[in-house]
Amino acid sequence: MKALVTTALDPLTLELRSVPDPRPRPDEVLVEVHAAALNRADLLLAVRRPTGSQLGLDVVGTVLRPAADGSGPPAGARVAGLAANDAWAELAAVRSDRLAVIPDGVTDTDAVTLPVAGLTSLYALQRAGWLLGKRVLVTGASGGVGRIAVQLALAAGAEVTAWVSSPARGAGLAEFGAQVATGYGTPPDGPFDVLVDSTGGEVFSTGYTLLRRGGVATVFGNTVRAELRLPADWGHARPGVRIEYLFLLDEVHHRDVPTDLALLLDLAAAGRITAEPGLLTPWTDPQRAVEALHSREVNGRIVLSI
Ligand SMILES: NC(=O)c1ccc[n+]([C@@H]2O[C@H](COP(=O)([O-])OP(=O)(O)OC[C@H]3O[C@@H](n4cnc5c(N)ncnc54)[C@H](OP(=O)(O)O)[C@@H]3O)[C@@H](O)[C@H]2O)c1
Repeated sequence: MKALVTTALDPLTLELRSVPDPRPRPDEVLVEVHAAALNRADLLLAVRRPTGSQLGLDVVGTVLRPAADGSGPPAGARVAGLAANDAWAELAAVRSDRLAVIPDGVTDTDAVTLPVAGLTSLYALQRAGWLLGKRVLVTGASGGVGRIAVQLALAAGAEVTAWVSSPARGAGLAEFGAQVATGYGTPPDGPFDVLVDSTGGEVFSTGYTLLRRGGVATVFGNTVRAELRLPADWGHARPGVRIEYLFLLDEVHHRDVPTDLALLLDLAAAGRITAEPGLLTPWTDPQRAVEALHSREVNGRIVLSI
């Protein structure tokens, strides 16, 4: 089969090559891949792994061969899920407990925006507890995860402020029902009950100071890759504030991913969340996708059609 792999030239310069077909374990289904998505984690892995490595977490396709142990979806089912860093390929062996069947009305390219972004958002928001009527501040709200987190918090009854760098990066968020705070030099109007942060650096530090007594900061990213700093009065000025860290690839070991992913796909099918890609590009042009991610020109997920 063909797969996108990292090259010696530069790990972020990907190449379509012939590689051996995957050999599913008894608890894995063989998926014919229709779409995959680009996550920042893919690019971090690209530079850490040896030349010739496959990549890709978000996967959508059709089950060619169900799991030999009888678990998971049947042959022919259209599924979305979490692959083991090998989704950018014609075929992928995916654990049957990392997949859900895609309902009618949700396209492949919409569904593939949801596994990483939807599950990360869902679990981050669940860590914050009851959201009805709560004030939630989402940083990185223009990103693949942020746009879904904003919508899930709104669907749960929260009053949501989406914090973005510029008006262009905030496009579409007000239409979901969020208030949009623009510019990192201007803190949004607090206080907030919940901070959902994936940006890190000064954005995290400022967001933290906007939490009210007993608030929760749920952190799952550090996109700016800077030290996280807390103000000197971090504790006594805000008694009871909690900071939670969420790592999806650890979280999935003690979650019911098929049920949670089915919930997200059903919300998309019902029109309660919008999951369309920010950029859809053929996998034959992976550089376009990588450059778009780096240049911060895409609102939402970047999707590769296979
Ligand atoms: N812990 C986990 O399991 C987990 C799971 C998924 C994602 N993540 C992490 O969470 C973060 C968000 O993921 P994502 O998929 O939503 O990424 P994304 O689509 O690239 O979005 C990141 C957002 O961060 C904002 N940003 C602020 N400062 C930035 C900077 N210096 N460089 C680039 N972007 C900057 C950008 O919005 P503006 O342009 O408006 O500033 C951008 O929309 C990433 O760091 C990712 O690695 C972690």
